[in-house]
Amino acid sequence: MAKIIVNGGKELSGTIKISGSKNAALPIMTASLLTDGDLELSNVPHLSDVTIMRELLQSLGTKISLNKNPSSLRLSTKSINNYTADYEIVRKMRASIIVLGPILARNKIARVALPGGCSIGSRPIDLHLKGMQAMGAKIYMEGGYVFGEAANGLHGAEIKFPIVSVGATQNIVLAATLADGTTTISNAAREPEIVDLCRCLQKMGANIRGAGTGIITIKGVSKLNGSCHSVMADRIELGTFILAPALTGGEIFLKGENLKGVSYFQDRIIDMGLNVSENKYGIRVQKGDKKLKNIDISTEPFPGFPTDLQPQLMVALGLADGKSTIIEGIFENRFMHAPELNRMGANIQINGKKAIITGVPEYRGVPVLASDLRAAASLVLAGLAAKGKTIIEGVHHLDRGYEQMEEKLALCGADIYRSSDD
Ligand code: UD1
Repeated sequence: MAKIIVNGGKELSGTIKISGSKNAALPIMTASLLTDGDLELSNVPHLSDVTIMRELLQSLGTKISLNKNPSSLRLSTKSINNYTADYEIVRKMRASIIVLGPILARNKIARVALPGGCSIGSRPIDLHLKGMQAMGAKIYMEGGYVFGEAANGLHGAEIKFPIVSVGATQNIVLAATLADGTTTISNAAREPEIVDLCRCLQKMGANIRGAGTGIITIKGVSKLNGSCHSVMADRIELGTFILAPALTGGEIFLKGENLKGVSYFQDRIIDMGLNVSENKYGIRVQKGDKKLKNIDISTEPFPGFPTDLQPQLMVALGLADGKSTIIEGIFENRFMHAPELNRMGANIQINGKKAIITGVPEYRGVPVLASDLRAAASLVLAGLAAKGKTIIEGVHHLDRGYEQMEEKLALCGADIYRSSDD
């Protein structure tokens, strides 16, 4: 099994190019199911989750050609010739549920394996299903699969989500583009990835207003066309690398156009004592002279502090002055990285949704096991800061969402490499 080895304590200096966003690319790829035209996507990150989505779409009838440039894809779904998203693919990636809306909208019948829970929580899909029902779909479960049928097609509906869900908002937006009439989603997710999906759909001819606000209105159209779209930069990768100099010292420049969507995160990092400056080419981050300051945060839907950056922030707070607290407001079990960090010398106490982090002078390198994607990233960051050698197992989690993380860090002076036998 692959491992990542980090010999910590090296100051970072250099430039890192931020890749395209995984969480934007996945739903945008499914937009191909809504049209018989060609959807040309660029800035698609090269990640295992994207490979799984390609496999899933191909199993449904999408032809995908890869350009010479590995970050460009052309997707063409002349017709949906299989309406079943098979368990063998869905079990590898929960985000596969996002194909339910587009298959139903185009094909009137869909069958998608129920994604199981995952290490960060039970992650139900009730809001996705209630939304489809409100749009006229008959939904039932059989043999571990969700069946959706809308013999007369989907119709517009007023949908009010009781809690904010990124995936359910995306699924309903996708489904509503081809529905008969107008759909209004209240308490919609406002994440930048939703805005990017809506931009792509608008280029394809969809009539959508309010993306990025809590109310999204979609007026169904009879047909969508092919189009071209460049996927937004990955704000979670950006936030992860912003934290790196906080742990190692030094200065890095994070390169990419329109690096947006981390402003609340950035403000909190500045509160901790990092120097952050922006220009049109990217973001420069430098550790100040003083020890990092403690802060208290709660994770919330956008524009609040993102849950996907909570594990990485915890690593920095573990070395900050005094006591910090983190309330995890989105997922019920997203502190699996804390015991691993404690094994590296951190002082973190977990009490339900609350983590109390008391800063320690240093981490030490030990073997650690990543339990999920962002936990894996947090352990890489902790390894960069630690004294001695950190050996990270569970690297397949990292490969779901970070493109060449160790290569990018090594180019900035980190002593980090991948090994299959260390
Ligand atoms: C997406 C992101 C993930 C991020 C999360 C929150 C992708 C591929 N994944 O996940 O990286 O951590 O947003 O920002 O974009 N919920 C329900 N019922 C539902 C749907 C969700 O109760 O039908 C709950 C979830 O259990 C969770 C909360 O709502 O507690 C938010 O989940 P949601 O926003 O749906 O997350 P995902 O779309 O799965």
